[in-house]
Amino acid sequence: MRFLALLVAANLQVACGGAQSALDPQGPVAAQIATLWWVLLSICSAIFVLVSVLLLYAAYSRPEKRPRLPHGLFMLGGGLLFPVAVVLGLLIYGTEIGRRIVADGGGPVLHIEVTAHQWWWEVHYPADGEHAAFTTANEIHLPVGVRAEISLSSSDVIHSFWVPNLAGKLDAIPGLVNTLRLEAQRAGEFRGQCAEFCGVQHARMAFGVVAQTEQEFIAWRQARSRDAPAAGQLEDTARSGLDSFLALECHACHRIGGAIPGSGAGDPDTGVRGPDLTHVAARATIGARTLPYSRDNVARWIRDHQRLKPGNRMKDFSHVPDDTVEAIADYLDTLL
Ligand code: CUA
Repeated sequence: MRFLALLVAANLQVACGGAQSALDPQGPVAAQIATLWWVLLSICSAIFVLVSVLLLYAAYSRPEKRPRLPHGLFMLGGGLLFPVAVVLGLLIYGTEIGRRIVADGGGPVLHIEVTAHQWWWEVHYPADGEHAAFTTANEIHLPVGVRAEISLSSSDVIHSFWVPNLAGKLDAIPGLVNTLRLEAQRAGEFRGQCAEFCGVQHARMAFGVVAQTEQEFIAWRQARSRDAPAAGQLEDTARSGLDSFLALECHACHRIGGAIPGSGAGDPDTGVRGPDLTHVAARATIGARTLPYSRDNVARWIRDHQRLKPGNRMKDFSHVPDDTVEAIADYLDTLL
């Protein structure tokens, strides 16, 4: 019994808190959704208890007591009027919550374009005032208290963008741009997840949202707008890594701004098929959160990515000699 209680308590803890939970809202939209959820749960639980008590009474009370159960008006009220009133009330309440979620809250807005791919997220920050445009992957940064408008689309199949702590789900549909409002009320890191089955690696299509202070966000943004070091500025090991990167034609899919002539040069519409690697070493994870970022994990990924994330769209490089892989990892590790 004590074990069962512990198990229930532990599950509740896991379910209600943490970096990926709709019941631990950290933004205004998520708070509305969580309130709606609690209201629905409370009303449904109360009705469930009421119906269960009546059912038990009808089934197990002494036969001479059963006629006490009212009928006639009670049947009409409990069977028709009550459910209609409850469902109608919840419908009106739910619609109002929906209206508040999409309402323009005013205040500053940060525009971010997110494109879903099998199985990762391309994140593009358009130019804004003195800030240049740049593209990153699987990581969204935003300042606390600022409303981010996510323009969401997909390059292949339907995916769904979901950061439970901050907002509801929204489908990413090829050929269509949907808009989602994302806002964090406190600094922190939240986990996002593709919420629509989109192929074998749907589960490993995660991303991170980092809510930070305005100053931290501006510093991050400025660092992202800088190009990678040009070949001439690299030390020998990194230089040979870049040469191998080019020899294996990794740049056919991966852009590295400033380092590789003709690799896209800041234009997201030039057929870039894999994540932009200009600042890959500054990211927290690789493979859409398959592995934490580290130089060694990059080497492991290049060698073994079809085992780590089977079916992903990257070409197999398991035949590439170890020293070449290590050199490429050394090079990518300089891309901060
Ligand atoms: Cu993308 Cu599931």
